[in-house]
Amino acid sequence: MNGERVLITGGAGFLGSHLAETLLKQFPTAQITILDNFISGTHGHLKALRASVQLIEGDIRDRAIVEGAARDVDYIFHLAAMPFIPDCYDDPEAFITANVNGTYNLLRSVIGTSLKAFIHMSTSEVYGSAQYVPIDEKHPTLPRSTYAASKLAAENIAFTMAKEHKIPLTIVRSFNFYGPRDTHPRIIPEIIIQFSKGNVLQLGNINASRDFVYVTDVAQGLILAALTENARGQIINLATGKETLLKDLIDMAARIMHKEKYELKLREDRLRPFDVDRLCGSANKAKEIIGWVPAVSIEEGFARTLSWYQEVKRWPFQK
Ligand SMILES: NC(=O)c1ccc[n+]([C@@H]2O[C@H](COP(=O)([O-])OP(=O)(O)OC[C@H]3O[C@@H](n4cnc5c(N)ncnc54)[C@H](O)[C@@H]3O)[C@@H](O)[C@H]2O)c1
Repeated sequence: MNGERVLITGGAGFLGSHLAETLLKQFPTAQITILDNFISGTHGHLKALRASVQLIEGDIRDRAIVEGAARDVDYIFHLAAMPFIPDCYDDPEAFITANVNGTYNLLRSVIGTSLKAFIHMSTSEVYGSAQYVPIDEKHPTLPRSTYAASKLAAENIAFTMAKEHKIPLTIVRSFNFYGPRDTHPRIIPEIIIQFSKGNVLQLGNINASRDFVYVTDVAQGLILAALTENARGQIINLATGKETLLKDLIDMAARIMHKEKYELKLREDRLRPFDVDRLCGSANKAKEIIGWVPAVSIEEGFARTLSWYQEVKRWPFQK
């Protein structure tokens, strides 16, 4: 991608900023443009990058902005979205307009262009709760939140428009990712914050399981997907294949943070109305088609995330 033009929507966000950094390490002369409305992304995320990227502060729901940003680009990584499930209960429309209409705006902007890859960021949430594990790309989709439904709708529109208009699309479905600079109070930031303050953890559904992928592994998966011609028209999972019960995640965190005698308080108000109980993915297709294997274990990734937090003492969502 050296010398080529790359658009990252949502590039000021959690994954987006790691993707931009990873890209520039591997392709120092890539010409990166970030399109972001900073609803959860921050200027702080771009501190290390500012001299090397062009920034468009704008909304993917705005057609004129999207058309301008997508003009003459070689690669698109479409990450911009409303991604935090608890927010969709209060404002489903924000999720539908950003995640569905925003994706449509971007797709229509690249019809008839010489784009090399449109990497559409999707999520394991589209599967709903696992009917079998590990979840491969053929697993049925049964979204359990308006977030997941909006991401599946966006995928479906991307898929059909790509066929109809020859857009070089790859859909990447990542399982839960985590790491430094997370923009939302997801389970790992919550545990780190609460254990940093004391020995009491107040959480919701700890009987669920998830497949946790380290954020830079996801960034690497997106880059490999973009570079692989054979990935066009494909849906590809990014997962570790390891199922972590949230209970076990808490025990691991307690060990690493020396909180052996913690107290766990289960809070009903933290339960999600229609939660996903079980997620564990298969990344066999990712390995086969794009040559991706995750490099960072949950122990190592948690420790890295913790040491970042201990240095900065604040998550981006803690305004
Ligand atoms: N975090 C996860 O575990 C996870 C798992 C699978 C997939 N995803 C997907 O990965 C992508 C990135 O998620 P993230 O966790 O980095 O969250 P994030 O909130 O940090 O990233 C989203 C970025 O998009 C921007 N954005 C939101 N609405 C926009 C709009 N209308 N116009 C322009 N910019 C807008 C935000 O400001 C933010 O910078 C999302 O598409 C999400 O659905 C996340």
